[in-house]
Amino acid sequence: MIKYKYIKNLLFFFEPETAHNIAEFFLENFSKIKPIKDLFIKKYFIDKKIINQTILNTTFKNPIGLAAGFDKNATMIDATYMLGFGYTEVGTVTIKAQKGNEKPRLFRFEKEKSLQNAMGFNNQGADKLLENIKKIKTNIPIGISIGKNKTTKESDAVDEYIYLIDKFTNECDYIAINISSPNTPNLRDLQNKSFVKELFNRAIAIATKPILLKVSADINKTNAIELCKTAIKYGCSGIIATNTTIDYNLLDEAKDFGGISGEVIKEKSFELFDTIAQEFFGKTMLISVGGITDANDVYKRIKAGANLVQIYTSLIYEGPQICKNINTELVKLLKKDGFDCISEAVGANR
Ligand SMILES: Cc1cc2nc3c(=O)[nH]c(=O)nc-3n(C[C@H](O)[C@H](O)[C@H](O)COP(=O)(O)O)c2cc1C
Repeated sequence: MIKYKYIKNLLFFFEPETAHNIAEFFLENFSKIKPIKDLFIKKYFIDKKIINQTILNTTFKNPIGLAAGFDKNATMIDATYMLGFGYTEVGTVTIKAQKGNEKPRLFRFEKEKSLQNAMGFNNQGADKLLENIKKIKTNIPIGISIGKNKTTKESDAVDEYIYLIDKFTNECDYIAINISSPNTPNLRDLQNKSFVKELFNRAIAIATKPILLKVSADINKTNAIELCKTAIKYGCSGIIATNTTIDYNLLDEAKDFGGISGEVIKEKSFELFDTIAQEFFGKTMLISVGGITDANDVYKRIKAGANLVQIYTSLIYEGPQICKNINTELVKLLKKDGFDCISEAVGANR
């Protein structure tokens, strides 16, 4: 296969959103051609028992998930499997289709292996996502990330989340509540105890699948603990930490809008994850996301209490071999430390 270095040079010739659309076109269409799909799976999908886990009532063949935002409309589920991911989180989807914020709204910081985005939940809406998901028969668990439309008033937000949970609960393996994106005005204000209490109270009455909460990288530690405590008390099955950050000091040339992801958020994101894990490991399921680039990052987060991890930005910079590289190395790290399966390593440092 062609080295990613060359594909990346070509893709990076285009502005980032165009490059994303080109990649989406090829990934989606390659995954429909069986011999190509089989070739990719053979090359990139690591199927080793030591990294299998049964959690959230399903089996994850490996702990690396595609983070929300890459596959907004669920067009690349099979492609995600083909690239070696153990699961995917599609969306964030809103009830109505929306265009998102004005372009340009996605920026590369190549030297820092980071991105800044102000997409604003551009997506084709809940009906389209449902239609796409129903078409796919895939081998990896699917999470659906849900959010509110930009024009929805805060007082109507909970109804929108409940509507989406009801719509998708039988079509996926888990639902992720996104109230942590910095790109929808006032969305992060919903990260408060009373909203979360009402949301989960109503959600568990209708949900047939686990509902997870994704938190912002910028929420302060005390508030994060209180928020997660409330969510778990009222039926939340897991915490995903973290979304992007608006800490613009992390990049020399940062824009003054949008959220930063990638290598520069590694420490910040892990620190909040670790704080959450200290409090909730063993009490709920934890997913770590933010700045993960290699197997050492993954192993560190697993030992801190993460059952699963997710990546987005490092896929852009490292290319399709990233899951294979991480999973191959992870198997070695687990064996070296005498673990027979990944679940023994989860929270080993707690
Ligand atoms: C272009 C872009 C779009 C994103 N869109 C979403 C989204 O729709 N929903 C969401 O929960 N997170 C979204 N994220 C955040 C990622 O899911 C992830 O939490 C964040 O990028 C940190 O992980 P990373 O450092 O591996 O990229 C987006 C990130 C990027 C770069």
